[in-house]
Amino acid sequence: MKKKRILSGMRPTGKLHLGHYVGALENWISLQNEYDNYHLIADYHVLTTRLETSDIYQDSIDMLIDWLAAGLDPEKSPMFRQSQIKEHSELHLIFSMLIAENRLKRNPSLKDQIRDLHIENVSYGHLGYPVLQAADILLYKGDLVPVGEDQLPHIEITREISRSFNRTYGEVFPEPESKLSVFARLTGLDGNAKMSKSLNNSILLSDEPAVVELKIKKAVTDPLKVRKGDPGRPDICTIFSYHKKFNPAEVPAIDRECRSGALGCAECKRKITTAINDFLAPFIEKRKELESRPDDVLNILHDGESRAKIVAAETMSQVRQVMRIG
Ligand code: TRP
Repeated sequence: MKKKRILSGMRPTGKLHLGHYVGALENWISLQNEYDNYHLIADYHVLTTRLETSDIYQDSIDMLIDWLAAGLDPEKSPMFRQSQIKEHSELHLIFSMLIAENRLKRNPSLKDQIRDLHIENVSYGHLGYPVLQAADILLYKGDLVPVGEDQLPHIEITREISRSFNRTYGEVFPEPESKLSVFARLTGLDGNAKMSKSLNNSILLSDEPAVVELKIKKAVTDPLKVRKGDPGRPDICTIFSYHKKFNPAEVPAIDRECRSGALGCAECKRKITTAINDFLAPFIEKRKELESRPDDVLNILHDGESRAKIVAAETMSQVRQVMRIG
């Protein structure tokens, strides 16, 4: 039976952090044998919130290296930049006629971004961000899109656009479904609900052991547990949430001894530092190895782009055929 297809993507923000791994990458890697995967570097999407373009190329390469170091297999899964495959822009244009402006204004993810980034005047392209995302997904006829919760509204818009196109011109596209990550998000080192590069509260996948140690030392814990002996509340502690993910074997003991006061935060932090560094060690090694072969990394990207281009061109030819525009 033909494998179902996955299309997933990330904006290139440079080196990835543990939150990206837990929220998305881990999920992609675990799905790569079961599905036919396409992985998009959404470089045009960066322009929706930042016009400065000088970092986009290097950020894309850094993200690609992280994907490869984490275990995405380029043979199985083409990886490619949105900007290099012109069909994304072309399909975006057609799709932009199939959705009402007020539907896009109602998008809750857009409202969050406007609030968080203090955007005063939303650009036409930013409003249309989910339309470009729909083109990303449907160009490859993705059946499934593994995403975090914040992206669900965009997948809904993708489904609406797919139905609208098929109804208007003829059946070309599937109606993709989202596939939520199992472990949706990782708390930031400062206790913020989300680990994020811009909030400066993240551990990068490429952080060396000494850096991880320092970052964990500064991380917030239960504010009511001031010294060893004080009873702690694991359920509100960021460090405890990291133990759940990276050190599950010790979780019952840590839970008990934190509550009783027998375990102090310093010792608990040492334990998680070791667990995270052990987790990151093979990744850092692979990353260094890839960094020493920049030409091979570029070849992987170019190969992914050629393979993606074939699928994209085929879909666009079907689109033009059903639309009778040559
Ligand atoms: N919108 C996604 C984000 O901000 C990135 C993205 C662009 C994407 N195109 C996509 C995700 C297609 C999944 C599928 O993270």
